[in-house]
Amino acid sequence: MPSEGPTAVIAPGLDNIPVAESAVSYIDGKRARLEYRGIAAETLAKESCFEETTYLLLNGKLPTQKELVDFDNDLRSRRKLKTKILDLMACLPEKGNTMGILQSMVAVLSSYYPTKPVSPDPKDNWDAVLRIIASMPTIIAAYHRIRNGDKPLDPRDDLDHAGNFYWMLFERIPTPAVRKVLDACFVLHAEHTMNASTFSARVVGSTLADPYAVISAAIGTLSGPLHGGANEEVLPVLEEIGDPSRARAWLENAVATKRKIMGFGHRVYKVKDPRATVIQELAEHVFVESGRPKMYETAVEMERAAVNILGPKGIYPNVDFYSGIVYKALGIPVDLFTPIFALARSSGWLSHWCEQISKNRIYRPEQVFVGVEDADYIPLEQRAS
Ligand code: SDX
Repeated sequence: MPSEGPTAVIAPGLDNIPVAESAVSYIDGKRARLEYRGIAAETLAKESCFEETTYLLLNGKLPTQKELVDFDNDLRSRRKLKTKILDLMACLPEKGNTMGILQSMVAVLSSYYPTKPVSPDPKDNWDAVLRIIASMPTIIAAYHRIRNGDKPLDPRDDLDHAGNFYWMLFERIPTPAVRKVLDACFVLHAEHTMNASTFSARVVGSTLADPYAVISAAIGTLSGPLHGGANEEVLPVLEEIGDPSRARAWLENAVATKRKIMGFGHRVYKVKDPRATVIQELAEHVFVESGRPKMYETAVEMERAAVNILGPKGIYPNVDFYSGIVYKALGIPVDLFTPIFALARSSGWLSHWCEQISKNRIYRPEQVFVGVEDADYIPLEQRAS
């Protein structure tokens, strides 16, 4: 056995291993409680807005009236993309990978807005923090317009974050109900302690890479179907089931064939994800205008059937189970669901990044070596063909 290195047993997926101290958010997986800087995320989704919640996550306190107005203006002034960036996006394929494009374009921003060597004081990097949060919706909407053969729309300073995103996507102002639902979804997806993409952000941030590289890495991490990518995978499942009456049989077969059920399960929540419950309530507001889709009934029936089948294993609906149904009812294309998750989570990622750089130590975990030692080099001509 190697002389140096730990002999401890590894923790696959770092399950239950704390890797940092953080004050940004807290989850009680048994009581289904999620708090952003101590305030229930559910309350923020209903009473606050994405801009105010982002201020809270980044600064650790709710803003005064003036602080909120200034912060909001700081974001609005950074929404627009440079013409050269839009020209670059015009060269992208119509059937592009939306998360790959978002990841790439955020990384490209570092060439137009170079950040000084990263300062341990987050305030020195504030322009980049604001620019990333402000411009991710613009990147997503611009690509969507370009792939449809339409000219990207300029952001509108008279609309808030959610309203402006909807405008840039569809060239129409959302109804107050639609705007509120979209904004609340942004709030609910903004932050979630040490999930895989936030951990990525902290690892990349710990090397003092620039914030654009940090968020680009986090976007790539979120894109996986076991993480943020799940929200795009739920709809095909509900369409495959087709009718609420077939939900139970489908679920029983899926469990029997050891199929991963998208939108279910969570490393921390061993009860229903509180965000899923709020998103269901939000869905009702959307359904008033769009009508209640059958796939929502199928999802509710699937959840009901899962209580006895998956509940005993602590597997319940997570944030991704109902969010796609809401986005589809809003007319949003499926391949924009995860980019929407990313634009919302940019607030949480950057809040964790600020924490990381202000009290930094580069991540460098250990391994338990299980490979070969002291092997000889066999020249090519002596190797068996
Ligand atoms: C998000 O971490 C976060 O906070 C993430 C997130 C955030 O806001 O950042 O909440 C967002 O990523 C939500 C999760 C979205 N992903 C999915 O919906 C994909 C399907 N879910 C699973 O892949 C799974 O539940 C995970 C990845 C979410 C969590 O997996 P864990 O904690 O590592 O659990 P596990 O894979 O070790 O499973 C334990 C057991 C296994 O059975 P056994 O091998 O012990 O018999 O539970 C089973 C798993 O097979 N299981 C599932 C299941 N989830 C767990 N079986 C079927 N379907 C599932 N969805």
